[in-house]
Amino acid sequence: MALARIFVFTFLFLVLALALLSSAAEGAPRRPQRGSKSRRNSLKAPRRPTRKGLRRPRVKSTRSQPVFKAPLPPPPLFIGSVVDARTYGATPDGQSNSKMAFNQAWTAACTSNGPSKLLIPPGQYYAGEIYFQGPCKNPMTVEFQGTILADPNADEYQENEGIMFENLEGLTVYGGGTYDGQGGVQTWKNGRSRVMPISIKFQKVNNGAVRDINLVNSKGFHMTITSCTNFSAERLKITAPGESPRTDGIHISRSNGVRVLNSVIGTGDDCISIGDGSTDVQVIGITCGPGHGISIGSLGKLLEQSVKGVYVTQSTLSNTQNGLRIKTFHDSPHIEASGITFEDITMKDVKNPIIIDQNYQSNKNQGASFVRISDVHFRNVRGTSVSNVAVTLDCSSAIPCEGIELADIDLTLSPNAPKKFPLSATCSNAKIFSRGKQNPPPCR
Ligand SMILES: *[C@@H]1O[C@H](CO)[C@@H](O)[C@H](O)[C@H]1NC(C)=O
Repeated sequence: MALARIFVFTFLFLVLALALLSSAAEGAPRRPQRGSKSRRNSLKAPRRPTRKGLRRPRVKSTRSQPVFKAPLPPPPLFIGSVVDARTYGATPDGQSNSKMAFNQAWTAACTSNGPSKLLIPPGQYYAGEIYFQGPCKNPMTVEFQGTILADPNADEYQENEGIMFENLEGLTVYGGGTYDGQGGVQTWKNGRSRVMPISIKFQKVNNGAVRDINLVNSKGFHMTITSCTNFSAERLKITAPGESPRTDGIHISRSNGVRVLNSVIGTGDDCISIGDGSTDVQVIGITCGPGHGISIGSLGKLLEQSVKGVYVTQSTLSNTQNGLRIKTFHDSPHIEASGITFEDITMKDVKNPIIIDQNYQSNKNQGASFVRISDVHFRNVRGTSVSNVAVTLDCSSAIPCEGIELADIDLTLSPNAPKKFPLSATCSNAKIFSRGKQNPPPCR
């Protein structure tokens, strides 16, 4: 009994002491505390950001845009070389052109000794074309917290890019920031007949990663990854209206070892397009729609290289024109698309859930496509179709598709479909094999 009483008293004393302590802490100024926390975070961040990201690739980001609503004080300088773009004149007033300031701040970070970070603090910056070019003395980090409003006039872009990261060994871009391409109805209309600026380009970047960045309303493609090796794009949010042609979310080409993970993409064109010369590409945990789906191609328009080794998994496509697509042009060079697996995919009201189209943008009197498609696997694809042909394998009359696997396909007609015929599959020049559930029944 006495023991119990002592215990209760000790407990009450502890609670009181804690309450006193915490009220004292509240009374103390908050800012330095937060500052020191962010200093700790910042110190950690550049050290092993990507490995951390890779170890936990399944974490779905629910973080939506305005991280910067209540501006934190800028993180203090650390490791000798944080370059705050504002010290070079970047102005978060939403209208002064901060392009030169960004370029100069980058040059300062790029040429400094030791690892360095370019910081774009919260606020709205207006900017035309920005060049973040290497080679740099060290791996680079960009902490992108603010919003960049792109110059809306497409004619102001000489190289057709909003931000260009180029020639870099080691790059990490992160921070919750937003690049607003300021595309609009007129830009997208003009974009049908000319190439519009790409919001963010990564070119010749090795061992790079971009994560927790938002891209909205690009004039042209939102992001391109070209001639890169070992590059991750993670937890991105890419948004444009369904009626914005040629605004692909992420386009990959001539790159090896690219991973696109846990991202939400909805635009007026392909969510992800995997173009020529892509090898060893992984696409995991994508929510796609609206848009044209996840595509390999289009391949074979110009002198191009083969696509080998693509793995797309754990992704959902909603209200898209296509689901999983391989598209190649007529009269193409002799290249290949092979070693491609689509696995564990959910479709919601997709028009062409599974489609190989080797007559892409062709009319009848044009020659065949010479892109050899082989070793392609569609496994565990389920959900709803809004068109009656849920599987289309329209292969080349010159080089039939080979080794096309359909395994555990379970597609049903959506209640929202305009016509209520049973679902079917159509094939031409396709050598397929199937196992498991087959809905619609496979063509032979
Ligand atoms: C890939 O790049 C990351 C940085 O993004 C790096 O940490 C990792 O070591 C690289 N992997 C290889 C195999 O070079």
